[in-house]
Amino acid sequence: MPSFEELKLHLDNAGQSHVLGFWSELTEEDRDNFLSELSLLDLSELKAHCEGAAKAASGPSVRVEQHIEPLPEEFVGSIQRSEGSTLADWENEGLLQISENRVAVLLLAGGQGTRLGVSYPKGMYNVGLPSSKTLYQLQAERIRKIQELATLKHGSKCTVPWYIMTSEFTLKPTENFFKENHYFGLEPSNIIMFEQRMIPAVTFDGKIILQNKGKLAMAPDGNGGLYRAVMDNKVLEDMTKRGVEYLHIYCVDNILVKIADPIFIGFCVSKGADCGAKVVQKAYPEEPVGVVCRVGGVYQVVEYSEIQPETAALRGPGGGLLYSAGNICNHFFTRTFLQKVAQTFDGELTQHAAIKKVPFVDSDGNRIKPTKPNGIKMEKFVFDAFQFSRNFVAFEVLREEEFSPLKNADGVALDTPTTARHSLLTQHCRWAQAAGAILLDDHGNVHPTTSREKAEDNTPVKCEISPLVSYFGEGLEKLLKGKTVTTPFILDEKRAKELQSSVTLSNE
Ligand code: UTP
Repeated sequence: MPSFEELKLHLDNAGQSHVLGFWSELTEEDRDNFLSELSLLDLSELKAHCEGAAKAASGPSVRVEQHIEPLPEEFVGSIQRSEGSTLADWENEGLLQISENRVAVLLLAGGQGTRLGVSYPKGMYNVGLPSSKTLYQLQAERIRKIQELATLKHGSKCTVPWYIMTSEFTLKPTENFFKENHYFGLEPSNIIMFEQRMIPAVTFDGKIILQNKGKLAMAPDGNGGLYRAVMDNKVLEDMTKRGVEYLHIYCVDNILVKIADPIFIGFCVSKGADCGAKVVQKAYPEEPVGVVCRVGGVYQVVEYSEIQPETAALRGPGGGLLYSAGNICNHFFTRTFLQKVAQTFDGELTQHAAIKKVPFVDSDGNRIKPTKPNGIKMEKFVFDAFQFSRNFVAFEVLREEEFSPLKNADGVALDTPTTARHSLLTQHCRWAQAAGAILLDDHGNVHPTTSREKAEDNTPVKCEISPLVSYFGEGLEKLLKGKTVTTPFILDEKRAKELQSSVTLSNE
């Protein structure tokens, strides 16, 4: 650990001497803690970081207008526009890769979830499903099921390792939660948690913010902190050791996430892609989702705020939005590509400035909770690596089947626990009805067939299907065909066995 004098000198050189302004008031213990916090800072980068943050916050966003173009059609696959047999081929390829232990999933779970406003990691959130399952549990069970499906299809017992990037805020509670829940039936050695770095929040003029007299206001360095974190924690070595070649990288908050989706993986592998993004059609021009496109010949995600409204509203030859490939943070990376970005390009990734309210101590030592934004948190984004891809592909999927993120607390219209719960239950009603079940609501009335288009408006009946029974709607017909089912209905493994044996009995 560097001495106090050494740190002071570095801080002086970086124009940050104010952080030691209350040193004389700190107890011995506070001083020790503060020194160890300061010693973890990358002091050589500190100056550039603070200047970069101040510049990013003051400058206008880079105009991408002149150089933007939609994704070339030949690099975009689609669930809707593909023949059933082609989808089956991709799925088979994906399952083959999974069965040969070449696929891992990587969860980005280091965020603070400030909009949702809970004090624990978002993955531990229970959106109020009949089963009370949390996001982590749903994901774990989907991993178990996809392992089983790959094994069934290709005969070899396999593992999909689960890499989980956490941060100082989420590591311990996530570890404890998994332990308390017996890793949701997964083998603990196949769940690899690692921690991303934290960086200081700064004021608009580039000064590090003190959270209290002996503590900096720190925040995780964005989901693009992945590239550093995999180097810091030797994650790539672990992947190599296990023979992992392909990764499905995803965000924690999408309740419908199709983990290690074999169709997506099979599509990317058969196109020889080094990197790929799942996308959904943007709903309307002003929708605040990033759009996957090309800018100046390289792949990029462009935020709605970065382009003119007229550009966002442009229509293509078929009448749909020209820039319609909405990014849903579901990515395919080869291990080699991840390694290339982490080793070679991390320093070139854009630092994005998020303007936030950051609690601080003022120069008199008073703790202030700001009422308006006062600070900048710098973040890197995982998708900024797309620009380094040599063979990038996109894959369009149906929003109502694959994307419903949990961002906000209830009380607003979008991306809340209620919308997430409804999306999942609506999907499961659809699956059950497609398998031939007749669903009865609380009053014993037949629930109308849940159409895709109306999915969001209908309050669904409580029909929940465990991922351990069905990964994506498959295998339900033999259990539900012609059955009248009263709701709430949870189709878990036990219920599936009962239904299975009743089918067997009636066939005898
Ligand atoms: P968001 O940008 O939605 O952030 O993260 P968040 O932390 O979940 O929520 P807010 O903005 O504070 O309300 C998208 C995904 O990226 C991960 C999150 O955990 C989520 O899966 N993430 C975000 C990280 O892994 N690290 C970060 O530093 C930031």
